[in-house]
Amino acid sequence: MEKREQLYEGKAKKVYSTDDPELLIVSYKDDATAFNGLKKGTIQGKGAINNRMTNNFMRRLEKEGVPTHYVQELSDRETVVKKVTIVPLEVIIRNISAGSFSKRYGVEEGIVFEQPTIEFSYKNDDLGDPLINDYHAVALKLATWDEIDLIKKYAFKVNDLLKGFMKEIGIDLVDFKLEFGKTSDGTIILADEISPDTCRFWDVETHEKLDKDRFRRDLGGAEDAYQEVMRRLMGE
Ligand code: TMP
Ligand code: ASP
Repeated sequence: MEKREQLYEGKAKKVYSTDDPELLIVSYKDDATAFNGLKKGTIQGKGAINNRMTNNFMRRLEKEGVPTHYVQELSDRETVVKKVTIVPLEVIIRNISAGSFSKRYGVEEGIVFEQPTIEFSYKNDDLGDPLINDYHAVALKLATWDEIDLIKKYAFKVNDLLKGFMKEIGIDLVDFKLEFGKTSDGTIILADEISPDTCRFWDVETHEKLDKDRFRRDLGGAEDAYQEVMRRLMGE
């Protein structure tokens, strides 16, 4: 499978067409942004780590019954995925308070919830990805009720599975963001990535941050943190 035309360049990935109209190739970059692109930088080696880590998770989720866009890893940075139309909702699950939740509600980070929470943001850079509820998403025709119900079901299932995968390697899954897409026949599948860019990972013992918050908050050591999660997950 080979890349043809570049279709899109996002903040962290490029997307290419292939000979097959149903398949795309994504190429992961080392570029890092935060605060809707206001803060820019690079995290050396991030592209390869996020690509390989995402694929590792997607393969395991697929096995456990979550349909995903994953098809084949081509190289360290490049993966063949199913072509989808992205549902313009960021789906955020939280197990522990942190980030915008703590800020919005004026609570400390680290409160362990009795049940996971779910929220949606409207994927729209011009508006700064505002928080949106399911009624608003249906009113704006971003998705149907059936699609939203399925997305919620898959998101909570991903949470249960991913929490388990991370616990095995001594990491608490604090929160994460998922994106879903629709294939040409209308099937909803998990798309985008699952990586330290899109999840908060805290070491179970030390509570050290092992994710993109090291970049967002200028804590230093982002490269080492991404490498550490990769090492625990894949033994390297
Ligand atoms: P938040 O606390 O800033 O709302 O972030 C919640 C989770 O979503 C966190 O794991 C990071 C992830 N996230 C993204 O993947 N992309 C984004 O643009 C933002 C703001 C958060
Ligand atoms: N990737 C997002 C941006 O550039 C934000 C983030 O992950 O914090 O705005």
